[in-house]
Amino acid sequence: MEDMIDWMHGGGQVGIFDATNSTRKRRYMLMKMAEGNCKIIFLETICNDRNIIERNVRLKIQQSPDYADQPDYEAGLQDFLERLTNYEKVYEPVQEGSYIKMIDMVKGEGGQLQVNNISGYLPGRIVFFLVNSHLAPRPILLTRHGESLHNVRGRVGGDTVLSEDGELYSKKLANFIEKRLKNEKTATIWTSTLQRTILTATPIVGFPKIQWRALDEINSGVCDGMTYEEIKKIMPEEYESRKKDKLRYRYPRGESYLDVIQRLEPVIIELERQRAPVVVISHQAVLRALYSYFADRPLREVPDMEMPLHTIIEIQMGVTGVEEKRYKLMD
Ligand code: F6P
Repeated sequence: MEDMIDWMHGGGQVGIFDATNSTRKRRYMLMKMAEGNCKIIFLETICNDRNIIERNVRLKIQQSPDYADQPDYEAGLQDFLERLTNYEKVYEPVQEGSYIKMIDMVKGEGGQLQVNNISGYLPGRIVFFLVNSHLAPRPILLTRHGESLHNVRGRVGGDTVLSEDGELYSKKLANFIEKRLKNEKTATIWTSTLQRTILTATPIVGFPKIQWRALDEINSGVCDGMTYEEIKKIMPEEYESRKKDKLRYRYPRGESYLDVIQRLEPVIIELERQRAPVVVISHQAVLRALYSYFADRPLREVPDMEMPLHTIIEIQMGVTGVEEKRYKLMD
């Protein structure tokens, strides 16, 4: 808790203090520590579904580092059930301060959300995020569009069609998705509103497609359609400023990486909410930002991250965190 308070003083905005704060006394202690330092919101999740509890206990024993040294499953189970009984003895439901209670919301249907003494922008966003997020395993497939004519010429932005290689990729991608998602009842294909992503999705059949403006490539403003060489020659100050701070640099009449990250918030919430697979066909800068969110990469790495063409990054979201696989469909 002291580490967290230090971090808040250093400019942190939201921290998660994960511990067994299941007694009133303990929570009052935390509130006392937070006084004048930060705001506390308690988050209590209550689950009354026997099956889900059993599944969680099983996963805990199989996957948690707490039980890494316990090869005997039954012994682990016994230990964990004892832990639960001990917690139950001292447990006092959260009734003080600001809190969010999520009751039987794991399944994504029914359930109840209690919100007490919460106000302000950030706390409101936290409630919104929690309502939409879950741990049901499902894959998210990220890919850039197939190579475009502007890619061939080294020009940024624009709205050109695919090159021959780009078209070939769109077919390979459709094949891949058909095989990869054939056992999935539902899945959706998300593209930007630019034709290079829409054309990349065209050969994919059997899944609904959604166009998001928020998935459009970074707006390169007055530099749209130019090569990096031309920008360097015609607008050397712009070129240098971008080189110095690519994350914050905003193209005149265009966007910065920080702008892109901000406009992706609704896309991220929607991806968190989905329980079925989603294929996102978008652009280099946008995918750098999206990927960094899911792979938990620091902000400063976003603008220079490798995001090759003709490659699918599969992110598997689930209880154990995020796993990643890459498929390169063309040489
Ligand atoms: O070159 C392809 C592209 O998607 C451009 O349209 C876009 O401006 C650029 O990549 C983003 O990458 P960077 O931020 O490295 O210039």
